[in-house]
Amino acid sequence: MGEVDPSFVQAPEHRPKSSIIVAEGIPLIDLTQIKYQDQDTLLVSDPVAIQGLVQEIGSACKNWGFFQVINHGVPLDKRQRIQDAASKFFSMSLEEKLKVRRDELNVLGYFEAEHTKNVKDWKEIYDFNVQEPTFIPPSSDENSIQFQWDNRWPQNPPEFREACRDYAEEVEKLAYKLMEIIALSLGLAPNKFRDFFKHNTSNIRLNHYPACPYPHLALGLGRHKDTGVLTVLAQDDVGGLEVRRKSDGEWIRVKPIYNSFIINVGDMLQVWSNDAYESVEHRVMVNSEKDRFSIPFFLKPALYTDVKPLEELIDEKNPPKYKPINWGKFRATRLLSNFVKSNVENLQI
Ligand code: SIN
Ligand code: FE2
Repeated sequence: MGEVDPSFVQAPEHRPKSSIIVAEGIPLIDLTQIKYQDQDTLLVSDPVAIQGLVQEIGSACKNWGFFQVINHGVPLDKRQRIQDAASKFFSMSLEEKLKVRRDELNVLGYFEAEHTKNVKDWKEIYDFNVQEPTFIPPSSDENSIQFQWDNRWPQNPPEFREACRDYAEEVEKLAYKLMEIIALSLGLAPNKFRDFFKHNTSNIRLNHYPACPYPHLALGLGRHKDTGVLTVLAQDDVGGLEVRRKSDGEWIRVKPIYNSFIINVGDMLQVWSNDAYESVEHRVMVNSEKDRFSIPFFLKPALYTDVKPLEELIDEKNPPKYKPINWGKFRATRLLSNFVKSNVENLQI
């Protein structure tokens, strides 16, 4: 074993445990029943079937904050293509990758020095925004930091950009379908959330977790919650994602299922739902033998969105638990503290 780099070493209480719990996994939900027939509303061929699905997804959001879906409608060839492009990109020389590196102002591109809660993650990443260009509302606040949101596309592999765009289009559709079901599960109109995403800041991240010589000390990604609305994650067959079980706080390993997606609730959905659905902690283990790749899509609202508990979900008995949060300001604060102190709670962008 080589020298241990202390910047990757987790405090003893956060290191991976040698025993892994996989017995009872996160709920597995079959989306076959969804037929997307109309642009404005979710129309299903069999209303009884959708009722069951709405109930299943609602209770998964409530009890776990996480679930896995199969028969989701995202074409496998598009997923395969972005996975291949990601693996080719990460196999290039560091010098090549650094040509598209993220910096203090423009937060998109390649990054090899991500920290979560002050400890370095054992991974390299590449981020791009799905909507191009990102809609930046004019700021009335002169002191606000204006980050740039420009995708930085690498020259190689040549098919990279197209593979990313084609996949993004499909996975974004799946996220919107799920948001309609989630809206129904909260007793809302299915298109309740649609307007928040007109000028969305959703992004896709390509993650590469190389094999690690000290997997008992480091993490691929430290414990965190996702700040956005909903995450749709494609993981490969290596495994390593762990989710904090709400019932007892234990870390549960999510078993990879071929061609499935892992879905989880983010902080903004927690706020909109006034805590009906909570964003749940998760982390990623590494291992000494195999590299792991994963591709999360983070559904995020427009920068100008003020996120607050939805009117329909609050009353005298259930008063709002949050003040309005301006998503643009919230993101800027998080990003700024990453660069200045790198000790914020949630480092996911
Ligand atoms: C994430 O939490 O953003 C990534 C999870 C994973 O790689 O499985
Ligand atoms: Fe995450």
